[in-house]
Amino acid sequence: MKSTARSTASLTHNSLALLGAVVLSLFASHAVAAEVGVAARIRQCTTCHGADGNSQTPKIPSLAGQPEFFILNQLILMREGVREVAIMTPFVKDLTDADAEALAKHFSALEAKRSDETIDPGLAARGGARVAALHCASCHLPSFVGHDQMPRLAKQRIDYMVESLKAIRDSQRAGGDSLMTAAVAGVSDADLEALAHYVSSQ
Ligand code: HEC
Ligand code: HEC
Repeated sequence: MKSTARSTASLTHNSLALLGAVVLSLFASHAVAAEVGVAARIRQCTTCHGADGNSQTPKIPSLAGQPEFFILNQLILMREGVREVAIMTPFVKDLTDADAEALAKHFSALEAKRSDETIDPGLAARGGARVAALHCASCHLPSFVGHDQMPRLAKQRIDYMVESLKAIRDSQRAGGDSLMTAAVAGVSDADLEALAHYVSSQ
């Protein structure tokens, strides 16, 4: 009886030591996994958003040169399901705050470049006049590079912005900024296209 108790005690002791070792090694491998995690995530993101953060894919936005806080904010909104982007859900649903911050830092530091879409000079000229009348620069800045939660529009894909502007105007972007919705209230599809050509050319 005594000896069984002793061996149980020592077994427990050994198990605890073993458990301790497993926990330690889990922590160690987790630390490595977290680092590899960000690099692996960046690779996932670039399959859609472009190798250098500049998208060559229709209707997928470029992330390069976006304000760091804008990217972070959108990632958190998507992770929480406030801004619903079904195609991105698998990539953001288990994103930690630290990973989201690292991704935002990475993409905001890349240089924004225009896609191969053609700027229509007539539309851009009309868009320039509408931009002035609608005070878009008051939030997105006169150079349209954005700041804080206001996205960069300069060099962004035209097809993505046309679709976004329609969705925002029609209150179809869940979690969208209501001031932005107000800014394009009642603006025609043709004018939204003109606005996109102008700001992308900046
Ligand atoms: C399967 C393709 C795909 C992958 C992979 C993907 N995204 Fe996206 N992402 C999209 C699409 C499409 C949109 C535009 C959604 C919309 O129309 O509102 C988007 C939008 C965004 C936006 C909002 C940009 C804006 O200008 O409004 C951010 C930020 C973003 N993605 C970051 C990421 C990051 C970071 C990753 C990697 C963790 C990632 N995405 C992975 C397809 C993808
Ligand atoms: C009161 C500030 C404000 C004004 C004025 C404003 N915007 Fe915005 N805009 C925002 C914010 C904030 C967002 C981010 C949207 C969100 O979080 O829902 C945004 C988003 C956008 C987007 C989507 C970009 C993306 O990457 O997802 C486009 C395109 C855009 N604005 C164009 C314009 C144009 C064109 C005008 C002028 C007609 C304009 N904005 C006026 C604040 C503003």
